[in-house]
Amino acid sequence: MLVLGIETSCDETGLALYDSQRGLIGEALYSQVALHAEYGGVVPELASRDHVRKLLPLLRQLLRDSGVELNDVDAIAYTRGPGLVGALLVGSATAEALALALGIPALGIHHMEGHLLAPMLEDPAPTMPFVALLVSGGHTMLIEVSGLGVYRLLGETLDDAAGEAFDKTAKLLALGYPGGPAVARLALQGDAGRFRFPRPMTDRPGLDLSFSGLKTHTRTLWQQHSSHCTNEQALQQLKADIAAGFQQAVVDTLTIKCRRAMQATGRQQLIMSGGVAANQALRENLQQVGRKHGFRISYPRMAFCTDNGAMIAYAGWLRLQDASALQPASPQPRSITARPRWQLHELKPVGRH
Ligand code: KG4
Ligand code: ZN
Repeated sequence: MLVLGIETSCDETGLALYDSQRGLIGEALYSQVALHAEYGGVVPELASRDHVRKLLPLLRQLLRDSGVELNDVDAIAYTRGPGLVGALLVGSATAEALALALGIPALGIHHMEGHLLAPMLEDPAPTMPFVALLVSGGHTMLIEVSGLGVYRLLGETLDDAAGEAFDKTAKLLALGYPGGPAVARLALQGDAGRFRFPRPMTDRPGLDLSFSGLKTHTRTLWQQHSSHCTNEQALQQLKADIAAGFQQAVVDTLTIKCRRAMQATGRQQLIMSGGVAANQALRENLQQVGRKHGFRISYPRMAFCTDNGAMIAYAGWLRLQDASALQPASPQPRSITARPRWQLHELKPVGRH
């Protein structure tokens, strides 16, 4: 079975082809980063319009590069939510229209389930059950995954997502957008120990997280110290030290909570995914703690940590083995639905659990 995956939930137009025999056979991504950079964040209306402009040319390119005809595609998986409603509608309308024209099934996928399954595209693939740390621009959560669609929320952020905290810190320090990679780059030149940063909610039991206090702490530090910088070099060093201290605080906080989640569930496999999982310091820290406390850790390659079509095609392929997941492949009018708000635990389990 050949599945076309379509991702348009935010500011990346992602496409991929997943073949049940050969695995991932092609992928294409168009990032809107440059488009939104001058606004310092994603502008939803511009995002939707750009998906409209780029999606079909990108599909033609993917088919050409992969040596596949549109008629070879057996099913289409697309991101139904959560995300920006206009952006989601571009992907779902395109997917449903293509599926109708080709007489094949289309399946709406939960974006976070895509992230959660992305590490399984790697070799060796982690196997369920596992604990998943999902850290992106919109979500930060720990989930116990017992099977496909069998998700137990262990803890989540009570306010900002970790990626959002990176993006806001980057904005504060005028590092540009997207913030995560910019903060991580600058942190390499900084002294993480120059200022004290809190490790929010680690002094009490539980697996919930919070990043808004850390954000406020960072702003206060910047305001207090930037006015005393008498030259550009001192200002640059201050930025680097704040970036390093902030990053270390996020990394430590996430690591402490992951370790706790592994202890609480007794699982031996941790996976992490979502944009912040591309963070090198977080990867190294978690690897170290995993080695020390006897759990394995897996994550996708960098390109599959952030939004991409491959994770949607793969999630689609897994779910499409459950026949009841399909809309009828008959030429009936189909519903085009986007779900900007959608909880992971609302998903249907697949198989017996
Ligand atoms: O998963 P993703 O591409 O989109 C969402 O679904 O949100 O995640 C994007 C988020 C942004 O907040 C971005 O700043 C952050 O992931 N990010 C990083 C890094 N690369 C991307 N954060 C920290 N370090 C990175 N290297
Ligand atoms: Zn995402």
